[in-house]
Amino acid sequence: MPAHASGKLIIVSNRLPFILKKNEQTLKLERKASAGGLVTAVAPVVVQGNGLWIGWAGVHLEEGEKIPESDPNDTTPTAGLCSDKVIHVDFDPQTFDSYYNGCCNGTFWPLFHSMPDRAQFSVDSWKSYCAVNKEFASKTIGALENLSRVETDSGTPLVWLHDYHLMLAANSIRNVADEKYLKFKIGFFLHIPFPPWDIFRLFPWADEILQGMLGCDMVGFHIEDYCLNFVDCCQRRLGCRVDRKNLLVEHGGRTVRIRPLPIGIPFDRFVEMAKEAPTVISTSLQLVLGVDRLDYTKGLVHRLKAFEILLERYPQHKGKVALMQIAVPSRTDVKEYQDLKEEMDQLVGRINGRFSTPNWSPIKYIYGYVSQNDLAAFYRDSAVAMVTPLRDGMNLVAKEFVACQIKESPGVLIVSPFAGSGETMNEALICNPYELVEAADTLHRALTMPEDERILRMRCLRRREKEHDVDFWMRSFLKAMGTLICEDGDDVLP
Ligand code: ADP
Ligand code: G6P
Repeated sequence: MPAHASGKLIIVSNRLPFILKKNEQTLKLERKASAGGLVTAVAPVVVQGNGLWIGWAGVHLEEGEKIPESDPNDTTPTAGLCSDKVIHVDFDPQTFDSYYNGCCNGTFWPLFHSMPDRAQFSVDSWKSYCAVNKEFASKTIGALENLSRVETDSGTPLVWLHDYHLMLAANSIRNVADEKYLKFKIGFFLHIPFPPWDIFRLFPWADEILQGMLGCDMVGFHIEDYCLNFVDCCQRRLGCRVDRKNLLVEHGGRTVRIRPLPIGIPFDRFVEMAKEAPTVISTSLQLVLGVDRLDYTKGLVHRLKAFEILLERYPQHKGKVALMQIAVPSRTDVKEYQDLKEEMDQLVGRINGRFSTPNWSPIKYIYGYVSQNDLAAFYRDSAVAMVTPLRDGMNLVAKEFVACQIKESPGVLIVSPFAGSGETMNEALICNPYELVEAADTLHRALTMPEDERILRMRCLRRREKEHDVDFWMRSFLKAMGTLICEDGDDVLP
């Protein structure tokens, strides 16, 4: 039986699939949905597989406080995750701040998105990163020990580490687990890009990061480019023997598989939501939709400026088109994100002030979380989705949009070539977000595209995403891991 179907799957990620907030009236902790690609993709997989999830709930729990069960009205995929399947990792607030805001958000996020000018390098936050990774590793060992006490023949436990917050954990887990003779397999998936050598080498503790990730049996990335960057860094920084064709790296007497595993979405769930969701905005305007965490990698400022140029160059759209930008607050303790919020507020005000008439405003801007049903309605009812990040590991919004395009006369997807989805969603209009005039022209093309072309493009996009949905991704990951289990010793380098 595969590990994911047997309760032997352990997911480890910085964030649990929900955040906890205190209800101001009852003073009880309640679960709230959290946004972000990792949670959206992994949550249904864990619930289906009856797995365990080790992570942080967004708050520091007081003595005696426990993870609550989900609200009976909760319809998000994490509702089925019972509290006994959740292991909360907590830290003193200072260490956590220095690890999360300092190292993860302040260093790795910009560096791995190839924006080194925004990255800060600090010894203290690196030390906190090491300490927090050790703590995650120790919780994982505890979970593995518990599983080893339950006598079942349902296969080897599978530890699945996620994302840049936990790049050191695999090595620590392997070292301790080996001493305790615990049997397990360990995989890692990076949800963001892996940068090229010239960027990665800027990180002062690059060796430790690579060694940490090579503690796994398999390391997955969204696309082949990121795999090749990683293999290149292992060879140039650690001097590992590598096989670029078969994506293998030799390290510490083991062979680690590197795999491109493009993530998908729960396609059918989005289709159902799009069928059921009532209209949120009734308008005769053609809507151009943007849905993002408020993050400087998402190209939001560029998008707004491109939209302004559209109104200058193609005045026929005035009064007929509106940009609907939904931006969920994110990492609000970090200055870069506070500055971006400020810049967006000013830019939206300036553009609306410049073009608005008594009956029309060009930009509708929501700064907040939107429920999945409302999101599905926005996706369905928009004429164009503009997914134009400056850099993005994959970008699930592009996929959610096409899943919700159930209309007979579908909309158009515009996607950036600097997102993983720009690599795979070939029938979208590809648009370089830095080229503002070109972006405005692409938007005009999308808004005026003939129906038969829209139908053709959308049909291909939807077919691919339905086939390569999140279950397919999960199966591909397990297959890559399972092959390891069955074919030990198979990966000998020439
Ligand atoms: P990232 O992982 O960088 O956040 P993705 O596009 O891959 O980017 O994933 C974002 C996820 O967060 C998507 O599943 C999207 O539906 C969700 N999301 C983004 N903005 C909002 C919002 N304003 N309200 C609710 N969910 C959102
Ligand atoms: C991206 C990252 C995730 C992260 C999410 C939200 O999707 O890949 O690991 O959880 O952004 O960011 P946050 O800092 O709020 O967890």
